[in-house]
Amino acid sequence: MIDTTPYSKIKITLKYLRYFLSSKGKHSVHSPLVYQFITQVLNSNEDGNYSLAEYERKRLQSDTTSIDFVDFGKSGQTFEKKINTIAKNSLKSKKYAQLLRRIAQHFQPNKVLELGTSFGITTAYLAYDQSVDITTLEGSERVAQEAVQVWKNLKLSQIQCITGDFDKTLHLVSQQSFDLIYLDGNHRCEPTLTYFNILKKNSHKKTIFIFDDIHYSESMEEAWNQIKQQPDITITIDLFFVGLVWIDPSLSKENFVLRY
Ligand SMILES: C[S@@+](CC[C@H](N)C(=O)[O-])C[C@H]1O[C@@H](n2cnc3c(N)ncnc32)[C@H](O)[C@@H]1O
Repeated sequence: MIDTTPYSKIKITLKYLRYFLSSKGKHSVHSPLVYQFITQVLNSNEDGNYSLAEYERKRLQSDTTSIDFVDFGKSGQTFEKKINTIAKNSLKSKKYAQLLRRIAQHFQPNKVLELGTSFGITTAYLAYDQSVDITTLEGSERVAQEAVQVWKNLKLSQIQCITGDFDKTLHLVSQQSFDLIYLDGNHRCEPTLTYFNILKKNSHKKTIFIFDDIHYSESMEEAWNQIKQQPDITITIDLFFVGLVWIDPSLSKENFVLRY
């Protein structure tokens, strides 16, 4: 049985140090796709204006209203949780939300899928353009309501949120072909692999998969290792807090650990 408990702060720090020391930069990379990814996305000096999304993040981080929250990962029970506590613990940081925005800007996906909306801050970052069509799945109804309010405040109308357990909602989208898929919910090995294998079926060769928190626990590291070993996976990029995966057969199979 693989342990799903998140690693302790000490363990994650040691793992991060090991990642940092072994991670590479552009000089050791021969793949054109990865070289461009490093120079144009990872090392980009682009200074986009994200103040409105960050204003929404701050607003949520200071909102002490208690709302119903379903604990999908552990008990599956509903309990009361303060908005500011969820906002402080669940949302991807500004640094990584900006990175996801730059990834979207660079690869220009038309259709994006996110598993795990929370308050929709990262979803807002992924909405890099008016024409991008985003579907995002969230289990907690009340949490999704807050996300809808965030997108209203940001005047983003191209986002559709489907609520319910992924086990019941994934089939509503799995027949569609997405260009970018961000998996950020239910951080456990078996469900992560199940969602990935389902979504891979209707993906096309340019689809990019982004997995959140690949070093979060023994269970997530096992998922990441198994994904890297799948025969149809070509390029993977480990950035420690997120992992990127390509299934394009025209690319050579290689696993990169890049510094970010
Ligand atoms: C880490 S948060 C997402 C954060 C968000 N992507 C961001 O960066 O702003 C994960 C979300 O996934 C949802 N979730 C986890 N397991 C789920 C499941 N089995 N079905 C539906 N939603 C689930 C949780 O309710 C939570 O809101």
